[in-house]
Amino acid sequence: MAEMKKAGVVGAGMMGSEIALCFAMAGIRVVIKDIQMDFARAGLDRAGKALDKLVKKGQFEVSRRDTTLSLIETTDTYDAFQDADVVIEAVAEDLDVKKRTFADLDKTCQPQCLFSTNTSSLRVTALATAVSEDRRRSFLGTHFFSPVSMMKLVEVIPGLETEEPVVSRVMDICQAIGKTPIRVKDVAGFAVNRLLHAMWIEAERCVEEGVATPEDIDIACRLGLGHPVGPFQLMDLVTNELTLNIQEILHQTYGPRFMPRPVLRQKVDAGHSGRKTGKGWYDYRGRK
Ligand SMILES: NC(=O)c1ccc[n+]([C@@H]2O[C@H](COP(=O)([O-])OP(=O)(O)OC[C@H]3O[C@@H](n4cnc5c(N)ncnc54)[C@H](O)[C@@H]3O)[C@@H](O)[C@H]2O)c1
Repeated sequence: MAEMKKAGVVGAGMMGSEIALCFAMAGIRVVIKDIQMDFARAGLDRAGKALDKLVKKGQFEVSRRDTTLSLIETTDTYDAFQDADVVIEAVAEDLDVKKRTFADLDKTCQPQCLFSTNTSSLRVTALATAVSEDRRRSFLGTHFFSPVSMMKLVEVIPGLETEEPVVSRVMDICQAIGKTPIRVKDVAGFAVNRLLHAMWIEAERCVEEGVATPEDIDIACRLGLGHPVGPFQLMDLVTNELTLNIQEILHQTYGPRFMPRPVLRQKVDAGHSGRKTGKGWYDYRGRK
């Protein structure tokens, strides 16, 4: 792979902070931007905590901890993106916010800088229209999975105008930061969310029909299917709002097979988001 000196990540939230960490762990300098400096710093703290977990598990050398984190620069402007080789956008899942971010990046970054979005549900080709025609050739999707420091997969999604060498280069970059990329078409839900939500909807249907409780379905998936975590535990982690939001997009695109179940809507109506609010499919209040 041609030498890569610096990456830029926009959005220092749950995903952006750990995406930045993966570059730093690979020895690549990375700048992470948020709308406020304290949000960017909170992202660096989150990256530090994720790295500490890896150290604790024996998956990263403690002696490299501080030098790794020192490769992450925090900012609330785009100035430090001028010499980035690749930028990854991980701001809120909102078409206008993402388009504005890319328009700003387009003005700042070098012509050869590669642009990627971590969107989970928007069309990569539609987001690419936020940048100049020339830049669209270097624009694609890189869909990481949470927690990014632990999950190996990246769905690499070329847009309509993405050039083939750009796809190869981004696949190489993913591998360089310890990920396994797969190429996926620019369709709603890409591949993983289509598979995941088909299963989650069936799990919710089982609960509605009284086939089994959420707890028992989680046990079934862990012990019968070898999944590391059950569907209801995972929904509680990603929040029921985000689950509903993605299912609504899948429903609009693919029709009845992805119709969100009433039992999920009820959880959202009740404000039972999951771990974030202390209650979801499980009750976390009073738990550590
Ligand atoms: N959470 C997941 O499991 C997951 C998985 C895959 C993909 N994604 C996608 O990743 C993206 C980020 O998700 P997240 O969970 O990290 O969200 P998050 O809310 O944790 O973080 C988003 C961050 O972006 C910042 N931000 C908003 N506008 C900005 C701007 N103009 N410039 C700089 N920063 C800005 C926010 O302040 C916030 O810190 C979304 O597109 C989401 O769909 C999320």
